[in-house]
Amino acid sequence: MSCVPATPPGMRVRTGRFKKLRSRETGQAHAYRHLAQRLGQAESQALRDLDGLHQRIREIWSGYKGESLKYSFGDFGLPYQGFEPLMLPGTRPAMHRLGIYQLEQHLPKGARALDIGCNHGFLLMGLAPHLEHGMGFDISQSCIDVGNAVAEHLGHSHIELSSKPFDEFNTKKQFDLVIACAVHHWIGVPLQDFGAKLHRFCKPGGIVLLESQGIRRTDATEVDFVKKAETMASAGFEVIRKGSLCDDGINYREFWILRK
Ligand SMILES: C[S@@+](CC[C@H](N)C(=O)[O-])C[C@H]1O[C@@H](n2cnc3c(N)ncnc32)[C@H](O)[C@@H]1O
Repeated sequence: MSCVPATPPGMRVRTGRFKKLRSRETGQAHAYRHLAQRLGQAESQALRDLDGLHQRIREIWSGYKGESLKYSFGDFGLPYQGFEPLMLPGTRPAMHRLGIYQLEQHLPKGARALDIGCNHGFLLMGLAPHLEHGMGFDISQSCIDVGNAVAEHLGHSHIELSSKPFDEFNTKKQFDLVIACAVHHWIGVPLQDFGAKLHRFCKPGGIVLLESQGIRRTDATEVDFVKKAETMASAGFEVIRKGSLCDDGINYREFWILRK
């Protein structure tokens, strides 16, 4: 099976566009340095509160070094996930991604979601208005500390994040949405077993979001992603949508939405 996907609409890969996207990322890192200096001097109390959050998060980021999180602190000195509503920079802006996945159209009222390897939990944070409860976990304590600081700042007591590796996670609960983005590569579990777990975590009629691992190319994604996604889906899911994105300008990724 070919690993080179058809070029999706709106994502013709040209060197000029790639350079533009790269400069967007370096621009973001540069702009963040200015923002960090200015936020504390803002007149508005809301912006000064935001400055307090940013300061707290920068302290947590500094702890990333101790964890050697090569997959959590990414390119251009930016962390992996960004969260636009709070001006938190990152190579992968959560709201932009959610706009592409369009998950909310598949969610019932009062939905419950699980995010496996949630990083900062910003996908759950962006979905929070659509959720009765969001649970996320990640092996990185620093990532979870950032997520919890943001959840507290936003008053999102219904978003629950904890630090643990996948093989220590267990729950009897089932979810309307299970997010497993760019994570199957890291957790060290055979894909068939991972598919079976996703099936167990998902309510009947619930959905799973799978996403490929970027390979630092804008014209191809993780080798054999289609085959891997088919293996996970074979646990008892139907594929209801496939799509692609290149939200960081560096990695073309594919995603599948499955329904149990
Ligand atoms: C490529 S990032 C993807 C993050 C997030 N799912 C997203 O799409 O924005 C992989 C994440 O998996 C986490 N991770 C790696 N190994 C893990 C494990 N064994 N259990 C739980 N999380 C893990 C990392 O800390 C990192 O946040």
